[in-house]
Amino acid sequence: MTAGPVAPEGARPRAPKTEGPVVPGTAGALVRKAGPEEVAALTDLLRASVLGLGAVEYSPRQLASALTHIFGVDTRLIEDGTYFVVEEEGRAVACGGWSRRRTLYGGDQFAGRSDDWLDPAADPARIRAFFVHPDRARRGYGRLLLEFCEAAARAEGFESLELMATLSGVPLYERCGYSREESVEIELPDGVSFPLIRMSKTLKRTAPTGGS
Ligand SMILES: CC(C)(COP(=O)(O)OP(=O)(O)OC[C@H]1O[C@@H](n2cnc3c(N)ncnc32)[C@H](O)[C@@H]1OP(=O)(O)O)[C@@H](O)C(=O)NCCC(=O)NCCS
Repeated sequence: MTAGPVAPEGARPRAPKTEGPVVPGTAGALVRKAGPEEVAALTDLLRASVLGLGAVEYSPRQLASALTHIFGVDTRLIEDGTYFVVEEEGRAVACGGWSRRRTLYGGDQFAGRSDDWLDPAADPARIRAFFVHPDRARRGYGRLLLEFCEAAARAEGFESLELMATLSGVPLYERCGYSREESVEIELPDGVSFPLIRMSKTLKRTAPTGGS
């Protein structure tokens, strides 16, 4: 693969307008849709992400329980074409998506799911399942995927966004304009308690173009 432009010192990658080919400001990273054949690889990525980046806010027992009962790949997002990967030299290093369906969080194994469609005129789109590999953290990939998903949701008529953040995810979302709505304490089937924070953001209307 041809290397992309090299980022100036301190520059952050900017989301491309569409998926692929190369993320400006990175050495050859690209954004693409996740495919059904990579569920195992994405599961490995999210496990490494949760264990490597979640240990400041959560105990090992909480992380192990959440990996069993909450965190996992949501294959519905992949089927819907709304789950994306940042790839570096053929390796998925970050993933995240959005959804037109009611489920707010959780992988295929999570009990509280709903495939119901959201109404863009009345409901916030969902921001879903952001995981960055620990050795690629703080390179702007989380924000890049988030901006990419926000643009896609806006293009489909959604005016607001909602997500359920881990405590580790809150700084990213606050940095990107999300507000805390509610602290939630989930009791997992093994009795472990897992705190999360529901957050939301109103999308800015895009200025009309042309005309006088
Ligand atoms: C949350 C997560 C996706 C962020 O991904 P990331 O690629 O490291 O984030 P970015 O580099 O895009 O960060 C953008 C900005 O968000 C803020 N931010 C992100 N992570 C932060 C952290 N750990 N501490 C403080 N600020 C942080 C900063 O303002 C950062 O800008 P800066 O690096 O220029 O200061 C990543 O930490 C992760 O995968 N965590 C484990 C899994 C998880 O909990 N996912 C969230 C599910 S809701």
